[in-house]
Amino acid sequence: MTWHNVMKSSKLKPGKKKMKSVKGKMVMVGRQGTTLFATEALCRHMRWPLAWGAKVEDDCVRCPLHQTTYNLDDGSVVEWSPFPLFPPYGKLVGAMSKKKDLKIYEVRDHEGMIQVNF
Ligand code: FES
Repeated sequence: MTWHNVMKSSKLKPGKKKMKSVKGKMVMVGRQGTTLFATEALCRHMRWPLAWGAKVEDDCVRCPLHQTTYNLDDGSVVEWSPFPLFPPYGKLVGAMSKKKDLKIYEVRDHEGMIQVNF
């Protein structure tokens, strides 16, 4: 496991999320209040980029597409594809696909850089 630079810490404001490529992996980093979090970038349901519109509250991240919700502590699925928003077959795909947890990365603010560990 190695720490990798993601971006300048000053570029990530509270309440914001960014998707970045780090050593060939797509990673989402976010700041909620003073707390940083880092996850894999794409929803495990139908690969929507979570940095584009996901809501973060109650230590969970919720995908905007079909509302799949993951716990930010361990990535476990809280709710799997409850809403058929877009595309409309999303709920069907959710029902047919296996629930998959979101990968969570260790994250830190080190000398002005946000870093993830993998
Ligand atoms: S793509 Fe995220 S819930 Fe469907």
